[in-house]
Amino acid sequence: MLLLAIETSCDETAAAVVQDGRTILSSIVSSQVAIHAEYGGVVPEIASRKHLEMICPVISQALEEAGVGMEDIEGVAVTRGPGLSGALLVGFSAAKAIAAAQIIPFAGVHHIEGHIFAAFLEQPVEFPFLALVVSGGHTHLYHVDGFGRYTTLGRTIDDAAGEAYDKSAKILGMDYPGGALIDKLAQTGNPDAVRLPRPLLHDGSLNFSFSGLKTALLQHVARHPQVAGSREISDLCASFQQAVCDVLASKTESAIRQTGARHLVVAGGVACNSGLRARMTRLCEKLQIGLSIPKPSLCGDNAAMLAVPGDYYLSNGLASSSAQDVTATWDMDSIKELLP
Ligand code: KG4
Ligand code: ZN
Repeated sequence: MLLLAIETSCDETAAAVVQDGRTILSSIVSSQVAIHAEYGGVVPEIASRKHLEMICPVISQALEEAGVGMEDIEGVAVTRGPGLSGALLVGFSAAKAIAAAQIIPFAGVHHIEGHIFAAFLEQPVEFPFLALVVSGGHTHLYHVDGFGRYTTLGRTIDDAAGEAYDKSAKILGMDYPGGALIDKLAQTGNPDAVRLPRPLLHDGSLNFSFSGLKTALLQHVARHPQVAGSREISDLCASFQQAVCDVLASKTESAIRQTGARHLVVAGGVACNSGLRARMTRLCEKLQIGLSIPKPSLCGDNAAMLAVPGDYYLSNGLASSSAQDVTATWDMDSIKELLP
């Protein structure tokens, strides 16, 4: 199927044209990051308004770059949730309207299942596999048995990894979102320079906690106010990055051993992180299992990733009904209950 995919769950207006859930013909991402940076975080009302402004131009550009017309599109895949309700509504309403006007089906997709299946746009993976999703809103370990069949093994009990990066960056005086900048500075720092905690490392669960780590960084900065803006900041960033990677790698290793998984997929914006990519590569080599981490442009929010599960649902008669609405919160484990 030739699908149009649409994503507007947070601060990126994105559209893509994808053939058979595998081949990207175009992928357009219009980011609002610069607008929200002024406020130190995403402002929901501004996000919705900006999506409204950008949705039609972004869809037109996706069709144009793919060299197809709206009449060639056979179905639409769109983020139904989770995310900011007002932002989700813009993309979801556009998808519904296109589906109604063109008399084609549409599929409402979970944003995180999109992130997980971004890896399939490079190389499909055999089921079952383990997925570590690390983004601004999620730090979750899932057992993936098939499209729509997800079981949560562990999750953050407070901040997500990306949120911890962004809040720590703010403490260090960096612009929002500061995850990538901490990563850049970390690459030239000494990861053993500052002792920081590894929350929940030995609690026996597969859950994560990052708020204490961010607080420890805040306390370090309070004791050493000269650190922000000095060369020592690279050491602090490297130490922070090592603490995050230690916890993510340790819990992922436990999950692999507990499930006997033969393949790991790492997904979400924080999967761009250089330290995490290197760490997961070493872990999977040690355990002799397969690893997929998409290229950075497919780790962050984009629409092409939604076309992979979207194509599966639409090809298997699992289209969404026009009565369906967006959902700001949505438990991944509940999706399998909707499947035949
Ligand atoms: O998946 P994503 O684009 O949006 C959400 O669904 O949340 O993830 C965005 C998050 C932000 O917190 C951002 O700071 C973080 O991913 N991020 C990084 C890096 N690149 C993006 N965090 C650490 N290192 C990076 N290189
Ligand atoms: Zn995302």
